[in-house]
Amino acid sequence: MLLLKDIYTFYGHIEAIKGIDIYVNKGEIVCLIGSNGAGKSTALMTISGVLKSKTGSITFEGEEIHRMLPHRIVAKGISQVPEGRRIFPKLTVRENLEMGAYTKSSKLRVKSEKLKRQYDKVYEMFPVLKEREKQMGGTLSGGEQQMLAIGRALMSKPKLLLLDEPSLGLAPIFVGKIFKTIKELNAKGLTILLVEQNARAALKLAHRGYVMESGRIVKEGEGKKLLHAPDIKRAYLGE
Ligand SMILES: Nc1ncnc2c1ncn2[C@@H]1O[C@H](COP(=O)(O)OP(=O)(O)OP(=O)(O)O)[C@@H](O)[C@H]1O
Ligand SMILES: [Mg+2]
Repeated sequence: MLLLKDIYTFYGHIEAIKGIDIYVNKGEIVCLIGSNGAGKSTALMTISGVLKSKTGSITFEGEEIHRMLPHRIVAKGISQVPEGRRIFPKLTVRENLEMGAYTKSSKLRVKSEKLKRQYDKVYEMFPVLKEREKQMGGTLSGGEQQMLAIGRALMSKPKLLLLDEPSLGLAPIFVGKIFKTIKELNAKGLTILLVEQNARAALKLAHRGYVMESGRIVKEGEGKKLLHAPDIKRAYLGE
């Protein structure tokens, strides 16, 4: 479904991604783990088109998306939940969700029946968002804001969801809920590329995983295999 080949992403002169190859099959949960500054968020932002790789290619369902603008990539079916949630604090919960339904090419959809069904789906998944519909996004708890960020990303009806550190800073009860949500979304057919600090939980959940270090992929394999690899245990699982 998604294939990154030979990706190099820079911030000015800083080379944050130094030639990575990643693929995601339809229906998979694939996780990307690695220490702080490894380039995980940069990789996701390169897929969503916010950042551009100097070389290489990114294809989605066989189509080259590497040179497309971010809103076109959303319209193709890739939606990102950014690190730190980035909800709009001064907009209501419903307005935050509405923002997720906007793509430059589909403004008309916002008033349609289809859109109403999307709200209903999100509210069904996260009933608390329905309860808080008219509340400002900034007044939600951290866990609720994460649900809102995921809900917002779902409004564009993605086929592939990019999740950047969804469990970061959440109380254990919310962490469990977020991982359960990821599993449910996948069971409903959504393909997921997940970046997580919580390597153990991510590898347990994922079909496959990649380990990044200093802008490179240093290891890849089935989630369960990585979970039992001695070097991964030492470096990322605290064993
Ligand atoms: N806007 C920026 N300008 C310059 N350098 C940046 C910028 N954003 C990230 N970097 C650098 O790029 C590298 C990769 O950063 P990135 O945010 O992708 O790491 P990460 O793996 O997501 O880390 P974390 O786990 O801390 O979120 C780091 O060395 C970082 O300092
Ligand atoms: Mg990051």
